[in-house]
Amino acid sequence: MSYPYQIKSIEEYKQQYKKSVEQPDEFWGEIASHFKWRKKWNKVLDWEFKTPQISWFAGGQINVTENCLDRHLDTLGNKPALIWEPNNPEDFFRVLTYKELHFKVNQFAQVLLNNGVKKGDRVCIYMGMIPELSIAMLACARIGAVHSVIFGGFSAQSIADRVEDAHAEYIVTCDGAYRGAKDVALKSVIDDALVRCQFVRRVIVCTRTRIPVSMIKGRDVWWEDEIKKVETQGNPFVEPVAMEAEDPLFILYTSGSTGKPKGVVHTCGGYLVWTNYTFVNVFQYKPEEIYFCTADIGWITGHSYIVYGPLSAGATSLIFEGIPTWPDAGRFWEIVEKHKVNILYTAPTAIRSLMGHGEMFTQGHDLSSIRVLGTVGEPINLEAWNWYNKYIGNNSAPIVDTWWQTETAGILISNLAGVTPAKPTYATLPLPGVQPVLIDENGKEIESFGVSGNLCMKAPWPGILRTTWGDHERCRTTYFATYADLYFTGDGCFRDQEGNYRITGRVDDVLNVSGHRIGTAEVENAINMHEGVVESAVVGYPHDIKGQGIYAYVIYNGTHGDAEQTRNNINATVSRIIGPIAKPDKIQFVNGLPKTRSGKIMRRILRKVAENELENLGDTTTLLDPSVVDEIIQGHI
Ligand code: WTA
Repeated sequence: MSYPYQIKSIEEYKQQYKKSVEQPDEFWGEIASHFKWRKKWNKVLDWEFKTPQISWFAGGQINVTENCLDRHLDTLGNKPALIWEPNNPEDFFRVLTYKELHFKVNQFAQVLLNNGVKKGDRVCIYMGMIPELSIAMLACARIGAVHSVIFGGFSAQSIADRVEDAHAEYIVTCDGAYRGAKDVALKSVIDDALVRCQFVRRVIVCTRTRIPVSMIKGRDVWWEDEIKKVETQGNPFVEPVAMEAEDPLFILYTSGSTGKPKGVVHTCGGYLVWTNYTFVNVFQYKPEEIYFCTADIGWITGHSYIVYGPLSAGATSLIFEGIPTWPDAGRFWEIVEKHKVNILYTAPTAIRSLMGHGEMFTQGHDLSSIRVLGTVGEPINLEAWNWYNKYIGNNSAPIVDTWWQTETAGILISNLAGVTPAKPTYATLPLPGVQPVLIDENGKEIESFGVSGNLCMKAPWPGILRTTWGDHERCRTTYFATYADLYFTGDGCFRDQEGNYRITGRVDDVLNVSGHRIGTAEVENAINMHEGVVESAVVGYPHDIKGQGIYAYVIYNGTHGDAEQTRNNINATVSRIIGPIAKPDKIQFVNGLPKTRSGKIMRRILRKVAENELENLGDTTTLLDPSVVDEIIQGHI
């Protein structure tokens, strides 16, 4: 497969960038013409940010799986599409060629049809990192069902919220999942979630760990039994449904500054074009290469850069079931050596954690296959960048620092590996079609260089979110209302003299813990559900491995147990309500929170204390009761 739109030089980048801004219709129309459309579009782009109303390739019809699978069969049929590396290094790995993956996706698409799933229905997927997870997603896309994948670390309560919000009547899950030394019981979490969701018609359960599961008659069926039925039907070819370009492909829930996660909606045409274009250009993928993205498919990185981007490009995408530090901190490097990985895409948090275990775990592994390295999800500090560059990239593999978000579907700001220059800790330059602007505290655009501001986008790219599921107004107020006619990212950003962008972190009440987005309001809601908790306030603080840690100030008037036990109990509640990823790293008990006279918590002060910056707390005279600050400083942990 060749990629006529793969940018090969910095001059070409500049020229393509210019064209994408000046003539977006011609530019994206040309790129989209390299995909397989059932019907050509009438209009490339139509948009206004006010409402917002954004449409790409309107009138066009397309099926994403036809582009990810069918169109490769003649030329790449025997090429590995997925390589699956299991949690336990002693177990066998699996390879699925494009032909095999196509076959399995058709089988499971038929299973979905047999179980009553129709175009437009929402299917919630809650599985571990096994090929069947990708197969389930692609099978949904094939028949036009809208998948909503939920990360395997979320609790029953979080699942129920999402299943309810999307009104997903169908669930695909596993009995359990392996993660390092742990064996997670997924189906039992689903069972707890569904107590609240009686409208669910069918739960399809794929076997992985063989822990005992309760199967409810009339509702639950085994994946394997359903496949057998399809086999007796003679393994039908399931015709890919021609979807409107703007029909939803999936919903993915993400945290914001309010308590309730929102269902970000991506559509078929624009999402496919954007994830493919960015994959091919940022990583400079070459047809024979093995590409390994370590993200979980439950997050946007897995959707776009394990499944849709690589497969639409006919790439070989490696899926890893386990964790970087089990059985030891050499696990990634063992995988790189074993499968001769050429492109490795991971998170700064993983790099910092492996760096902490020491370079001895990289030694003894042949990493010479590595050609390109990537990072995503959070700012990368210089120390981690240098370590990655030296010990993994042998000072020669370009590192792409890719900045983007669930809402953007794919990478917006990044260097292109080996084509445009890297600058450590900088995401560097916008991709074609991406028009960043920095906004000052008065809401004015800052046009100069060497300045910081809030990062916004001036115009849509094909992968921009279209709405938030069931609540378009929320999409407008969250992203398009802060600044008129701009998409607001929620990130702060610095632009250097050369126009390189460096993302400095969130400017809203969203934390980034180990590259996972967590809203402080969500954590507070969970803590407040704990018996005896009167009120709480959550802020982030710098954490050596996780990037940000969660610091909770809690007013507690319960009587049960000592402080340590209460902390553990509160953590148990947070795990129960959201999931273990949202557990506070530190809990400080306080008698009061610093509030203004109008009752607003002054988080600035709480942040400073959590960051251990106990001097210069700024003006505290507007506080209702300034004495609480002294108590908070004294109790700092
Ligand atoms: C942060 C993950 C600095 C940022 C793809 C953004 C980054 C949030 C980078 C989105 C990067 C992502 N450098 N910060 N290269 N990439 N972020 O939705 O704060 O899980 O807003 O998407 O992660 O997180 P999300």
